[in-house]
Amino acid sequence: MEERRQRYLVTSALPYANGPLHVGQIVGAYLPADAFVRYLRTRGEDVVYVCGTDDHGVPITLRAEREGKDPKEVVNYWWAHMNETFGRLGISFDNFSQTSTEVHARNTQLFYRKLKEGGYISEAESQQMYSPSEGRFLPDRYVEGTCPVCGYKEARGDQCDNCGSWYEAYELIEPHSKVTGGPVEVRETTHLYLNLPQFSDRLRKYINGQEHWRSSVKNFILGIIDSGLEKRPITRDISWGVPVPEPGFEDKRFYVWFDACIGYVSSTAEWAEKLGEPDRWREYWQEPGTKMFHFLAKDNTVFHTTMWPAQLMGVGEDGEEPFILPYDVPANEFMNLEVVVDGERRAMQMSTSRNLAVWVHEALDRFPADPLRFYLASNLPETGDVVFSWRDFQIRVNSDLIGNLGNYINRVLSFVEKYFEGELPRPESLSEEASEVFADFKALEARFEQRMMAPRPRDALGELLAMGRRANRFFDAAAPWKTRKENPEQTRADLYACCVLLGSIAYHMVPYVPNAVERLQSFFPGPISRISDLDGLPNEYRVKGAKPLFKRIEDPEVADAEERLAKAATG
Ligand code: 2FM
Ligand code: ZN
Repeated sequence: MEERRQRYLVTSALPYANGPLHVGQIVGAYLPADAFVRYLRTRGEDVVYVCGTDDHGVPITLRAEREGKDPKEVVNYWWAHMNETFGRLGISFDNFSQTSTEVHARNTQLFYRKLKEGGYISEAESQQMYSPSEGRFLPDRYVEGTCPVCGYKEARGDQCDNCGSWYEAYELIEPHSKVTGGPVEVRETTHLYLNLPQFSDRLRKYINGQEHWRSSVKNFILGIIDSGLEKRPITRDISWGVPVPEPGFEDKRFYVWFDACIGYVSSTAEWAEKLGEPDRWREYWQEPGTKMFHFLAKDNTVFHTTMWPAQLMGVGEDGEEPFILPYDVPANEFMNLEVVVDGERRAMQMSTSRNLAVWVHEALDRFPADPLRFYLASNLPETGDVVFSWRDFQIRVNSDLIGNLGNYINRVLSFVEKYFEGELPRPESLSEEASEVFADFKALEARFEQRMMAPRPRDALGELLAMGRRANRFFDAAAPWKTRKENPEQTRADLYACCVLLGSIAYHMVPYVPNAVERLQSFFPGPISRISDLDGLPNEYRVKGAKPLFKRIEDPEVADAEERLAKAATG
């Protein structure tokens, strides 16, 4: 019986193209999504995974101004840098686009026009921060002041990093220009607004219908909706961004958060275009039945569960197929860093400006992708903030990845090659212990699946390690090094069972250490399969030229990586 493939569209939050990637970003939006996507692909589901750089917004123009460069030059540079880093880490996007493309500008303008046709856009005067000394309006993030909610002194113009509140820049107490430090004043300006309150009922219904969301997330969003949504300005007095197709708005651009999520659509369209099937993106965005997952860090949740669904609801109403809405918005918490200063280990907040961060490209210069992915996956901030520690990296890799999984694979394969010429035909019968371990594995596979689909790839990894421990126990109990002389047929049958387990372990390793599984397949063709999915037991297993899949992480390597952080922390 052929099961129908489920269609998935998976996205990772678009990173601002203004600097190198650090591990905190990776655990927030990229590795969990990639692990999930790799699992879906291994299962044979229909999945498209898109991302791209977020090229607009103040983080970009701030950097460009600092460097005296054109914003486009800055974003192109960082797009290439990120694209390479993601590739080295094995983040397997089907497409990695940019929001500064022509296609995306047209797409954003199309979204705007449809929202306007739907009656969701209005124009209004507002008060905006103006810097007389610079002779221009200042975007929110160029303005700093004291948070009107919590009193934090270095609050940004649109959001407080301390308490997370969003507000308008003119609500700040003692606002000043971030560039010059000089005072700023309020002036009138005209902007376009998305009338979010018109969507309140539909948003409430949509959120309420998400049975599979955690109730804490649901209640949080419902609380925001119930406290009354406000219309949101979608244009800004800036010169870098998507042009606004309205007379009188030539000197303004769309607000970055208006176009950022549309970037997911543009990236999918670009993917389809490259495929030579330019309309394929519609299947994923417009046909009901697609499950869309937006992976992100928790500070992006509100946007993806209010404004973004409203945008999607609002464009689907002129006779065309409506867009689908997010099925899930898996949000991760934050990652701090362990720094060793004078022999003392402390958790510190990452600071990209102080170079107090683990940059992914640098980490990949030190270690291969697989052990880094493995450690980060075992330490995903799925339920609370976590700490990145190079010492834990060493412990997790050496004891779990190598000591548990790698060790099992090595023992089995070298034994099969050494004593059975690398050939194991299906035995006449299997021991009772083998049937037991198969049953245990099927249960673990089901638990893995349930956790991965939650999607909780870190919890799923725990089940994979349980499979490794169970398989090692089976190997130990079978004791082939003892039985091979007295009862070689029994040994052969036990090793055959070990290979069945190995195929399942390898299958579940794909999301975490894909390169190792690829190498493994060159000397162990498999089948790499869940035991639950095997259609009868395979005719044989073959092994040829097995090599260890992983290299231990040594003390000096860790000391060196720790020193680099200590310097940043104290320097
Ligand atoms: O917070 C950020 O880094 C944003 N660039 C995320 C955008 S997510 C989506 F809208 F594209
Ligand atoms: Zn605050």
